[in-house]
Amino acid sequence: MALERTFSIIKPDATRRNLTGKVNAMLEEAGLRIIAQKRIRMTRENAETFYAVHKERPFFGELVDFMISGPVVVQVLEGENAIAKNRDVMGATNPKDAAEGTIRKTFAESIEANSVHGSDSQANAAIEIAYFFAGSELVG
Ligand code: CMP
Repeated sequence: MALERTFSIIKPDATRRNLTGKVNAMLEEAGLRIIAQKRIRMTRENAETFYAVHKERPFFGELVDFMISGPVVVQVLEGENAIAKNRDVMGATNPKDAAEGTIRKTFAESIEANSVHGSDSQANAAIEIAYFFAGSELVG
């Protein structure tokens, strides 16, 4: 297994409920190291660019509105097999389908307000990390 990096977002539903520390504890317990982190407010342009792959989907407008509705915490996570490990600890996109003990099962309010985002591939992780962080901000 290779040491990988993945991109993560703690979404507005979770920051609103002051869950950043609890989410981070679950990430760390899963074996992921938070090597960069900042709390930001996404602009509409940030959210539209970040989720451009979904722009033809019926939920795109609401997704963008939701992502700019409050602060988010953007993060880079490092670990062995970090992309799959993070997806495992996040759980399924829809909290109704998420396994017990996952972040989304524990905290998510709905398929939209699902508390966290994580990259789905190495290629997307690299793109997503570079969109929000300079190389000098990643301290592994
Ligand atoms: P995320 O992993 O951030 O990637 C795209 C997001 O779109 C997803 O999590 C969900 O929060 C959101 N979304 C809203 N509605 C849907 C839907 N019907 N199907 C998939 N994703 C949805």
